[in-house]
Amino acid sequence: MSEQVLRAQLVELAASLFARGFSVGSAGNISVRLEEGYLITPTNSSLGRLDAASLSRLDAGFAHVDGAKPSKEVFMHRAFYTARPEAGAVVHLHSTMATAVACLPDVDPANPIPPLTPYFVMRAGPSMPVVPYYRPGDAAMEPAIHAAARGARAVLLANHGPVVSGPSLRDAVYAAEEIEEAAKLFLLLRGANPRLLTAAQTADLLSHFG
Ligand code: 13P
Repeated sequence: MSEQVLRAQLVELAASLFARGFSVGSAGNISVRLEEGYLITPTNSSLGRLDAASLSRLDAGFAHVDGAKPSKEVFMHRAFYTARPEAGAVVHLHSTMATAVACLPDVDPANPIPPLTPYFVMRAGPSMPVVPYYRPGDAAMEPAIHAAARGARAVLLANHGPVVSGPSLRDAVYAAEEIEEAAKLFLLLRGANPRLLTAAQTADLLSHFG
């Protein structure tokens, strides 16, 4: 896909996330891998009102090349790209339900949201560990996210929100949406002892859908 098409796709998908309330204000950031380098949303920009021509472009070493000043979370995105060679895009949101789960002290930090539905497992699973809290933009988060991302496509940043990678921009956005829905189901079903997908069902999903 050409850089021009990726720029337009990023703006369109970000606006769609914003329009449906997955992001508010200037929260969240999105990046996509180019043949040489990356595009990332500018810092303090609203996902609802991005300008394709002003997206920040980074070189293959994540240095700012052109466009507006990049997101302060470049380290967060770099942690995923360096941990997961197949990652083609990374989405970070402060979506409400996933962030609510990220604030709960009594969840399993290795796997806070259990396998409730196939699409959560297929898009974000099989596990989404919690990474301890860091101030937004703190470079110290990079090693912690990198370590977690080596074993997971998605992580939950404690008291902050989800970060998810995917092979393409569309895949990463779809995964971010599934994480939010799974978090909503998890919170709705707390205390209800829901039936979970079994280990065999989860393995079957992963063998069919990767
Ligand atoms: P940026 O505006 O710098 O991308 O930061 C937004 C955010 O979501 C911080 O976590």
